[in-house]
Amino acid sequence: MITNLPTAELLSDTLAQADFLPRLPQQRRLYEAAKAAILSQQLGAGCKLPSTRNLAKDLGIARNTIIAAFEQLVAEGFVVTSTGSGTYVAATLPTVSRPKGKLKELPASTPKIPLAGPAPLSKRGAQLTEFAAGERYEIQPFAPGDCDFSTFPYKIWQRLQNRVWRDSWSELLDYGKAGGYLPLRRAIAEYLRVSRSVKVSIDQVMITAGTQQSLDLCAQLLADVGDTAWVENPCYWGARRVFESCDLHLHPIAVDAEGIAPTASELMSKPRLIYVTPSHQYPTGVVMSLARRRMLLELAENEGAWILEDDYDSEFRYTGRPLAALQGLDAHGRVVYMGTFSKVLYPGIKVGYLVVPPLLVEPFKSALYDLHRPGQLMIQAALADFIAAGHFTTHIRKIRQAYGAKRELLRKTLVAQVGNNIKISGEESGLHLVIELPDQVDDVALASLAAESGIAVKPLSNYYLQQPVRRGLLVGYAYVNMDKISYYGKLLAHVIQAGTRL
Ligand SMILES: Cc1ncc(COP(=O)(O)O)c(C=O)c1O
Repeated sequence: MITNLPTAELLSDTLAQADFLPRLPQQRRLYEAAKAAILSQQLGAGCKLPSTRNLAKDLGIARNTIIAAFEQLVAEGFVVTSTGSGTYVAATLPTVSRPKGKLKELPASTPKIPLAGPAPLSKRGAQLTEFAAGERYEIQPFAPGDCDFSTFPYKIWQRLQNRVWRDSWSELLDYGKAGGYLPLRRAIAEYLRVSRSVKVSIDQVMITAGTQQSLDLCAQLLADVGDTAWVENPCYWGARRVFESCDLHLHPIAVDAEGIAPTASELMSKPRLIYVTPSHQYPTGVVMSLARRRMLLELAENEGAWILEDDYDSEFRYTGRPLAALQGLDAHGRVVYMGTFSKVLYPGIKVGYLVVPPLLVEPFKSALYDLHRPGQLMIQAALADFIAAGHFTTHIRKIRQAYGAKRELLRKTLVAQVGNNIKISGEESGLHLVIELPDQVDDVALASLAAESGIAVKPLSNYYLQQPVRRGLLVGYAYVNMDKISYYGKLLAHVIQAGTRL
């Protein structure tokens, strides 16, 4: 016979429901049943709970289980105990009276979390998500931007990681201070000096969680809301999103055969930030001429603007040495240089770096720590060892050769099918090439047509901030194996022929 109605009956009814949290232990089920009754005010504030002894008897549950569930309810503030007088529902909930009923009716009275309809975002949130790139698509033939991470030297990496975990000291489990793991910063400084002619001391190097975070730091620290950021047009969408999220005014500047090409009237405007990809403009692949580099540096110096140089894929230059960075020409400390390991190693590593002018070292270090609490020192340590032991340069050499061969095969396959009517550009370096299309061709429609054959090329016009100036298709080849390049290359050529009558 149940001795303490209605509380015991209420709980007993809930626990008897076969679908009430069947996989959880009894103590947790009892706690959840009592909590639900309190939240739905079936057990109102001030209501006395039965003694643990009586409840154990009524519910047929061990008393220790009841005590443990009550203790949890006390700890979370749902009930209070008063020595000698018992356990009561706490008075912290609204005291609107409701008809008492069984817990079976609970779902009808539980507040509903909306599952559909417009998301209640801020204006900025709504704007940002309106054009979001969405989930990362499954890697498909010719998706631009992807490297072939199947060639990553797993075994070597595993050995280095194991050694770091075995030998390392506990500081590596802490947040990263002072801009990241010192030996990695040293290795990066050395690498950039030799292979990119970057003027850099170790102090100026800061490890970030990739270019996206580097850009965010620059936008937060160097520009105010409403300031103007010049971006190349067409532009890397990731940079555009970051600047938009910081409420900067984006001013698209056309790109011609020499890189970013501001008009005379644009040169009179006062940008605060100038985002550029001088070694391999993303997405067109144009290399910025020396004259343009000089012009930009002079402008930045005169106007007090900051140039953000995104050097994301210079490792993959197929003819000759990688190009020297714009930063190396900067005599006035106006360039913030950034690089990433996403393309050379694998995207999920999320390790990138910034080289900031000397005056910005302290503020950047402090903001990096305060805003992002960087970590992953174990990965940074393994990466430092990976570079120091020469595996990094060996890996780059290997993949550069492999990607170069893929690029050549793709070019030959396309030309063999379509003939010299096809114009290919931007293929001297990087992980993708651009097939240029006549102005009247709808490259978005053509990319959709290609998608029907399982080909994930991207239309050039999607990268423009305003009306597209040029039409084309971005074709990524690094990830695709040689057999698939032949097969899908022919397929793509057919799609282009069908869509353009070339
Ligand atoms: C122009 C450009 N910069 C940088 C990156 C890499 O960014 P992250 O280091 O955030 O992966 C990409 C990746 O696609 C890119 O296309």
